[in-house]
Amino acid sequence: MAKFVVSYVVLSLFCIFQQSNAASASYNVIKFGAKPDGKTDSTQPFLKAWSAACSSASPSTISVPKGRYLLTATVFRGPCKNKITVKIDGTLVAPADYRALGNSGYWILFIKVNRVSVFGGTLDAKGAGFWACRKSGQNCPSITFNWANDILISGLTSINSQSMHLVINSCNNVLVRNVRVIAPDQSPNTDGIHVQTSTGVTITGSTLQTGDDCISIGPSTRNMLMSSIKCGPGHGISIGSLGKEFNEGGVENITLTNSIFSGSDNGVRIKSWARPSNGFVRNVVFQNLIMKNVKNPVIIDQNYCPNNQGCPGQSSGVKISQVTYRNIQGTSASPEAVTFDCSPSNPCRGIKLQDIKLTYMNTAATSSCKNIGGTSSGVLMPESCV
Ligand SMILES: *[C@@H]1O[C@H](CO)[C@@H](O)[C@H](O)[C@H]1NC(C)=O
Repeated sequence: MAKFVVSYVVLSLFCIFQQSNAASASYNVIKFGAKPDGKTDSTQPFLKAWSAACSSASPSTISVPKGRYLLTATVFRGPCKNKITVKIDGTLVAPADYRALGNSGYWILFIKVNRVSVFGGTLDAKGAGFWACRKSGQNCPSITFNWANDILISGLTSINSQSMHLVINSCNNVLVRNVRVIAPDQSPNTDGIHVQTSTGVTITGSTLQTGDDCISIGPSTRNMLMSSIKCGPGHGISIGSLGKEFNEGGVENITLTNSIFSGSDNGVRIKSWARPSNGFVRNVVFQNLIMKNVKNPVIIDQNYCPNNQGCPGQSSGVKISQVTYRNIQGTSASPEAVTFDCSPSNPCRGIKLQDIKLTYMNTAATSSCKNIGGTSSGVLMPESCV
């Protein structure tokens, strides 16, 4: 009898060993004490599940079953030993009072992680609290990736939130797909997705309705592809604001393709401060875009000087070159559909317009150009001023 028990124990240990070695280890946050009631703070159970997954030598999965999980400021820290997949069927809920996040400036932060995939998930950032956080002058993104490599974010949704704000900062090789960000268009400063100091970011198949930029691209960003984006309401897709600092990394090799803007303030915008800077924007393609009732479908604004503070009488040092606008069609909500207001000290160079058809109230819209050089081809409405 004793002998039988011993061999049974050995056998089951062997199975566990086999399982964790061969396939992937799986960690359910409920098993670590998370409560899907939307009220009990589940931060510690989530962190325990993360630390188990992070120290696992084999690939691991963290699963978050259906239900609502209250999380305060939560940092998922790497580096980890192997790949981690986070599978979220539930909703992550921020504390209603943003002060519960302390001065952290973040809600959910992934830092120094490599090879992390996040599938699904709904974020409920309890809008009003986050809104208050923003008014207090902080940034308050809902989910941030800092110094992360080889990241997949797939199917993430935000509901009931004034602020989703996915931030990708100092990352390499990030794929964001099928993400939905929905915030009322009056909510202040709620960018959908902000990318900076990053290389190889792809955003595809995503719907972004926000109070600010659908996607904003900050300094030192290279090799970025955006496709199949639905933007609006919101401020559009922006490269910038750039050139606030004198020493600033440039933005290079950015493509936006096959996307739709509806009722947004801008379509595609490049924006820089009217201040000296050694920044630049080059090799950008905006193509196959539909504009529906967009105020400024195509705009370069190098005269950004909010409240006339720190820049009056100056001009932008940011050098904009090799920007192509190809096959952009639809309706403008203002008479001037194409606006190029480039820097007098650093004129835009190599701007290419090809097949643009934008109307305002069923007539051709207009365009305006300052300090710009480039070429135009194909059908152009409004007529090119380049
Ligand atoms: C430009 O970016 C794309 C990704 O969008 C990348 O595949 C391509 O290699 C980059 N080109 C250069 C010259 O780096």
